[in-house]
Amino acid sequence: MIVSVKEILTKAREGGYAVGAFNTVNLETTRAIVDAAKEMRSPVIIQITERTMEYAGGRMIFNIVKNDVEFYAPEIPVGIHLDHGKSFEATQRCAEIGFGSVMYDGSRAKFEDNIRNTKKVVEYCHEKGVDVQGELGSVLYIGETEGGEINWDDFMTDPQKAAEFIEKTGVDALAVAIGNSHGFLKERSEPDFERLKKINELCNIPLILHGASDWENGKVVEAIKNGISCFNVDTAIRVAFVSSLINSLKGGSTNFDVRKILEAARESAKEIVKQKIKYFGSEGKA
Ligand code: G3H
Ligand code: 13P
Ligand code: ZN
Repeated sequence: MIVSVKEILTKAREGGYAVGAFNTVNLETTRAIVDAAKEMRSPVIIQITERTMEYAGGRMIFNIVKNDVEFYAPEIPVGIHLDHGKSFEATQRCAEIGFGSVMYDGSRAKFEDNIRNTKKVVEYCHEKGVDVQGELGSVLYIGETEGGEINWDDFMTDPQKAAEFIEKTGVDALAVAIGNSHGFLKERSEPDFERLKKINELCNIPLILHGASDWENGKVVEAIKNGISCFNVDTAIRVAFVSSLINSLKGGSTNFDVRKILEAARESAKEIVKQKIKYFGSEGKA
């Protein structure tokens, strides 16, 4: 059943567990996430980026997710979310399509500009009943820091500013930077859990940790203890999916049944999602 992202996040925050926000790109990865959620009886957020909307068609990928959930897992709470929306127009388009939640990622702009731009998105989206996630501090991507040492302090979320950001924008959830990064990029030796704890004390909304593909169980548990309600996972799904494809096609395979090849890839992706759901503690919470 499609439900609001806010509802999923609020229940997780109150219940002391976290949920996964898993990126989908097509029918196969959608089926993998939905099947995993169903088998684990877990609420999940399925998220779509602007690049995926360009690739698959925004309305098309939205409806693939919606139909898949309604047909195969009507008993499982699933939220549909725009991941890393980079403009007001992108969030507006998603609200029109029917997304229940959008992220506006203004994290690379100056603090005041991030507040102003995020607030505009919140005003528009709340009017339409759509939740909004903002980002303060910056979660790095592979390639951004090549060659140089990373001064993590330059990218971290400031707890006081986070509280001010939430108050001035009205966002429903906040993505934080505590030494995490996107992809399998080297992360800070230890996440700054003290900082996370402080953010959580000052901010009374669900906190989101991006770049969780390579977060092992120990770190996940510590993050939940200090206030994380949702982990974003993309790369681990891609890696599982593509590794399976490579395996199926190696040695000049003569299996031309596309469905068999994709089915195996879907199974690999599903296993990763199930493992993450276990780590996050949302198994059985549907
Ligand atoms: O953080 C978001 C994704 O990992 C990047 O996704 O390649 O669809 O833009 P994209
Ligand atoms: P990973 O690709 O590192 O899992 O990050 C996903 C993410 O943060 C999507 O917003
Ligand atoms: Zn992200």
